[in-house]
Amino acid sequence: MSEEVTIGDCRLILGDCREVLPTLPMVDLVLTDPPYGLGKRMQGGTWGGAQKYKDLVIWDSRPADDLLLVLAKRAKKAVFWGGNYFALPPSRCWLVWDKQNAVQTMADCEMAWTNLDANTKRISLPVGIHASGHPSEKPVRLMEWSIRTVRASGHVLDPFAGSGTTGVACARMGLQFTGIERERKYFDIACERIDNAYRQGQMFPSGPIHKQEQGALI
Ligand SMILES: C[S@@+](CC[C@H](N)C(=O)[O-])C[C@H]1O[C@@H](n2cnc3c(N)ncnc32)[C@H](O)[C@@H]1O
Repeated sequence: MSEEVTIGDCRLILGDCREVLPTLPMVDLVLTDPPYGLGKRMQGGTWGGAQKYKDLVIWDSRPADDLLLVLAKRAKKAVFWGGNYFALPPSRCWLVWDKQNAVQTMADCEMAWTNLDANTKRISLPVGIHASGHPSEKPVRLMEWSIRTVRASGHVLDPFAGSGTTGVACARMGLQFTGIERERKYFDIACERIDNAYRQGQMFPSGPIHKQEQGALI
């Protein structure tokens, strides 16, 4: 482990999650968005030529299915965005994000695998602007919805933290968070975003529950 920063209830670790994980305690929820391994496929075409996709080949190496199975055992509840890219056990409870697609050559939806025996749920949310500079930054509201929908509380772990979106959601919701990120550039961005979230004092879920967010799982 090369570096660690604590901001409020958020602990951010710069390192490889395969090395860091054995040193961490069990948590209440693993909520993550692992690299899908699309790096090389995103290098061409109109969008692939953009500067922000050049970094994909560096960080977008798909983790082994075994690692995700180990991760699912680190908590009672597990939510893996992009779970459809991995060989995970059958689940009847998927979280589906309808991206209200403005870009028709991109996917209409993204899916999260969960280890819950519950109904599949859906949210409709625009992708928004990747303000952090991370090419696969998720909307903060998506992570907040994920946490609320699986009715998680306590301590949340994101071992592929990227620009820290899960941590920002936890800071806003008053949850404890541990995030691991391997790339220095994104680790620094995550620290800054989480620090800003604390400065804004948003220690509660943002806004009223959206219509599509009603009917949490349990
Ligand atoms: C899909 S991105 C996550 C994006 C994040 N959801 C966000 O909103 O910014 C996956 C991240 O995992 C990181 N990563 C890849 N392999 C890793 C590993 N073995 N340990 C820790 N981080 C890793 C990559 O650098 C990348 O930033």
